[in-house]
Amino acid sequence: MKIAVIIGTRPEMIKMWSIIRLLQERGINYLLIHTGQHYSANMKDVFFHSLHLPKPHYNLNVGSDTQGRQIALMLRRIGEMLAKEKPELVMIQGDTNTVLAGALAASKLALKLDIKVAHVEAGLRSFDCTMPEETGRIIADHASDYLFAPTNIQKQNLLYEGVSPEKIYVVGNSIADAVKEHLHLIQGGESLNNHSLQKQNYFLVTMHRVENTDNCDKLKQLLDSLGKVYEQYKLPLFYPVHPRMKKRIKEFNLPLPPGLTLTDPLDYLEFLQLLHNAKAVLTDSGGVQEEASILRVPCITLRNNTERPETVQIGANIVAGTKPLSILQAIELMLSRKREWNHPFGEGDTGKKIMDVIQKDFAKVKMLATTTPRRPVETT
Ligand code: UD1
Ligand code: UDP
Repeated sequence: MKIAVIIGTRPEMIKMWSIIRLLQERGINYLLIHTGQHYSANMKDVFFHSLHLPKPHYNLNVGSDTQGRQIALMLRRIGEMLAKEKPELVMIQGDTNTVLAGALAASKLALKLDIKVAHVEAGLRSFDCTMPEETGRIIADHASDYLFAPTNIQKQNLLYEGVSPEKIYVVGNSIADAVKEHLHLIQGGESLNNHSLQKQNYFLVTMHRVENTDNCDKLKQLLDSLGKVYEQYKLPLFYPVHPRMKKRIKEFNLPLPPGLTLTDPLDYLEFLQLLHNAKAVLTDSGGVQEEASILRVPCITLRNNTERPETVQIGANIVAGTKPLSILQAIELMLSRKREWNHPFGEGDTGKKIMDVIQKDFAKVKMLATTTPRRPVETT
């Protein structure tokens, strides 16, 4: 079996880490393709380095552009690469433009080359189609032959959309594999010292969603909200800034509130140590909501919805919106909770479960994909 693993952004490197390692350990014939959606050293190279990822066989160097042009270029370059390499299976993870293009490129060539698609982290839904990620994940799911759902919630989402149950596997989330593997490396305080932070004595912030960054009024409101958090708690807010946000703050010429310190994006271990030791995290990131649940760090999500409702159900996360009052109330509530929840993302063996399924069932999946029609599932 020949497998092509397509990655392109920071979270894909982290969440495909365990699968890539297993492909190497099990001696499977695989290709690693990086689309180049993320290309800055602190969004790409540092992750290859700290996660010990192998050098990609292909760097497609697509870079940044409008959504349309970026996806179009990826489609072309991924398509050319697949036509040349003829893998039997393409693996993608998540909901980015890389995932959308990877799924589409593979499924367009599927009839000619008999390529199957495996989607890791399938079935997540925010039910907000204005988010580019939502369309990405829906299209990827419906173009896939293996759908690896983190929990039963995502399995139900897929069944409601008529995905054949035979294609769905509930396996946990591979973020738990990455956290488990690196936990022993983040026990010290180097990262805290580097940034003059003290355990449990700061808020960690991450924000990069288009709906939060690209609208000047919304972004201003968010920065004001962070200022109110500082007024209330008098604790530093430490924010490793995603390049999209860095660009927008400059473009909109927005003043930073007191208490907020911006820094460049951090490498995985440095970031994980800061998350582990934070009083709470204020974020709009998907992966950070999951990691906070796993590390039992109170999470306040700066959005109006989440495609990770299980983190809210277990009490690890509150969807707080972007207004000061709701954010302050959410922080107060989260800080009053005991950090006793148990996360539902698995024991850190998601990559293993996925590779076991693929190695065991590939022949069956090849048959299913051509013989099983999609059918709506009745709901009760
Ligand atoms: C993408 C994903 C988002 C994911 C995030 C992870 C899509 C539609 N969005 O958002 O779901 O949560 O990655 O971090 O795929 N830039 C750099 N250096 C880089 C990469 C980007 O400076 O290495 C800047 C460019 O100005 C670019 C902007 O960031 O225009 C946005 O990058 P892009 O890849 O379009 O989307 P993200 O916001 O990173
Ligand atoms: N992360 C990191 N350094 C940072 C910020 C985040 O290593 O400065 C990691 C974080 O631990 C998580 C992942 O990046 O695993 C989340 O990526 P991001 O928030 O960019 O994307 P999303 O998960 O929202 O798609």
